[in-house]
Amino acid sequence: MSVRTLVIGNWKMNGSRALTVMLPRFGASTAAVEVAICPPFPLIPLAVATDAAIAVGAQDCHAEPSGAYTGAVAAPLLAELGATLVIVGHSERRALGECDADVARKATAALAAGLRPVICVGEAAEGRDDAGEAVAAQLRASLPEYVAGGVIVAYEPVWAIGSGRTPDPAYVAAIHARLRALLVALHGVAAGAAVPIVYGGSVDADNAAAFTAQPNVDGVLVGTASLDPEHFRAVIAAVA
Ligand code: PGA
Repeated sequence: MSVRTLVIGNWKMNGSRALTVMLPRFGASTAAVEVAICPPFPLIPLAVATDAAIAVGAQDCHAEPSGAYTGAVAAPLLAELGATLVIVGHSERRALGECDADVARKATAALAAGLRPVICVGEAAEGRDDAGEAVAAQLRASLPEYVAGGVIVAYEPVWAIGSGRTPDPAYVAAIHARLRALLVALHGVAAGAAVPIVYGGSVDADNAAAFTAQPNVDGVLVGTASLDPEHFRAVIAAVA
């Protein structure tokens, strides 16, 4: 279990200068809750300059620290700009062809740059009996080798993302328990238990607390509800 509940907002390909300068209205990290927002790349410096009470992350990075990769962004540059975390392996990027090994390389690059990778995993279809095993296998293949410290895991069932449909909190708890068992098997009890595992997929102010009340649910990854300051603040308040 991590000490503070994590609330990570993912703006996806949304947001603007106007929304970014409103960041102080989105809430603040406290002793109980750590808050982060992941805006599109160009808004990261403005987000960092706007509000020190919210950590700033990116939504992706390249696996290489530099090179001839037109359009890609390297983890060391994100760190230089003041980002402290980066989402890797989001299902919307996996849908573009990213595989588990790509995600593992990106996570490794993030750690090397001093960023915390938020490694996303989740089953595509609802109602799979073997979802726990499938998601654990996906995580196993998406993790950097040997390192547990600094990693954040996000369980996001693809069918719940942006759909307004959420799994039963007990179902989420069962998946998170399976992921925790994997992390403990790989890294030992202390290090495996310290990796935060957050839930994402149609999280809002009404349902967030039901997820974070479950064992092994250390926070939430919030898409749509992170675009509205009042709604995002309400999510933070709900899980505090
Ligand atoms: P959502 O997105 O909250 O809009 O479902 C979550 C995510 O994709 O991280």
